[in-house]
Amino acid sequence: MNASEIDQLIRKRRSVFPKDYTGEKVSDEIINQMLENANWAPNHKLTEPWRFVVFTGDGLKQLAAFQSECYKSVTIANDTFREDRYQSLQTKPMQSSHFEEAKSFFGLGPYDKLCGFLHVGMPKATLPDGRRRPISEKVKWFK
Ligand SMILES: Cc1cc2nc3c(=O)[nH]c(=O)nc-3n(C[C@H](O)[C@H](O)[C@H](O)COP(=O)(O)O)c2cc1C
Repeated sequence: MNASEIDQLIRKRRSVFPKDYTGEKVSDEIINQMLENANWAPNHKLTEPWRFVVFTGDGLKQLAAFQSECYKSVTIANDTFREDRYQSLQTKPMQSSHFEEAKSFFGLGPYDKLCGFLHVGMPKATLPDGRRRPISEKVKWFK
């Protein structure tokens, strides 16, 4: 792949959200490739401080049940419970093919940090063009 193809790959990549997934399962081989690539991220002194948890199939149901019940118990206790939010937590993970996360309910230690959730699925449509404000607004050169 040449430099211009790499530029295109970076600029044409899009975020696609669960409502725009077909429901088709992404193969475990592709998920493994994604994880292998993620494992090559640059990091401080090669400490490789990341861990991944992958939810797929029945795992997504377990995650949805855990998240919605956790939300319910916390929000009922502080009187902020919302039925629509509860329903959304019960159904949203099901729209994904895989879902990666790391959190205390999976036995992470007190110093581990939950860095994020990544929904993975097959996009329904071709990807739209992206939008970014021009780099000229954001760069200052010192020469
Ligand atoms: C690390 C990261 C965190 C993000 N967090 C959110 C988020 O919390 N909520 C959200 O709606 N989108 C989130 N996004 C998606 C961005 O909104 C999305 O990247 C942005 O709209 C630009 O679209 P593009 O990625 O298709 O160019 C996140 C993206 C990244 C890379």
